[in-house]
Amino acid sequence: MGAGYVCGVRLGVLASGSGTNLEAILAADIPVAVVVIDRPCRAIDVATSHGVVAVLAERSSYGKDFDRVAYTNGVIDVLESHQIDLVVMAGFGTIFEKPMFDAYEGRIINTHPALLPSFPGWHAVRDALAFGVKVTGVTVHVATLEVDAGPIIAQAAVPVLDDDTEESLHERIKDVERVLYPDTIKAIIERGSVL
Ligand code: GRF
Repeated sequence: MGAGYVCGVRLGVLASGSGTNLEAILAADIPVAVVVIDRPCRAIDVATSHGVVAVLAERSSYGKDFDRVAYTNGVIDVLESHQIDLVVMAGFGTIFEKPMFDAYEGRIINTHPALLPSFPGWHAVRDALAFGVKVTGVTVHVATLEVDAGPIIAQAAVPVLDDDTEESLHERIKDVERVLYPDTIKAIIERGSVL
């Protein structure tokens, strides 16, 4: 199977937070084979309440001693043991090392709360607001070793309002994300390839 092809399409969703994107994916009747989380979070409850297998691949550390390669290999083992074809990052807070992008080249997707290539990184909403843009949005893209830099699959715009806070803007972005991400995943499944 070449890079980018997702025949069969067994999805593994990776999450670290409230899991509302995971919830939207499940609500759209997209079959999810496994959910992997890197810390205790609401996403595990979302998975289990939908009868989806959830695996806690807990980070041992958030400090300099964190063995990112070993952690990456551990998550690959979980995904491979569930025969995952397509890795769906949905608010996953740990950056992977190269082995992940070798194992799943072109078959890892992510949703980012800004219009890439503007505002990459963990504080995309805050950075867009601080810059003073009038329009921001959502980008669904192929995840690559370089963070938030892979090929863009889909985007949608969200206007910034004069009285927006980081929270209010992120919530409106997430409203759009919870439609765009499931729609994009369905399109990937239908065409049998990520791009
Ligand atoms: C989303 O806005 C996603 O783009 C960002 O983290 C958020 C995850 O939200 N990377 P949730 O956990 O799915 O509610």
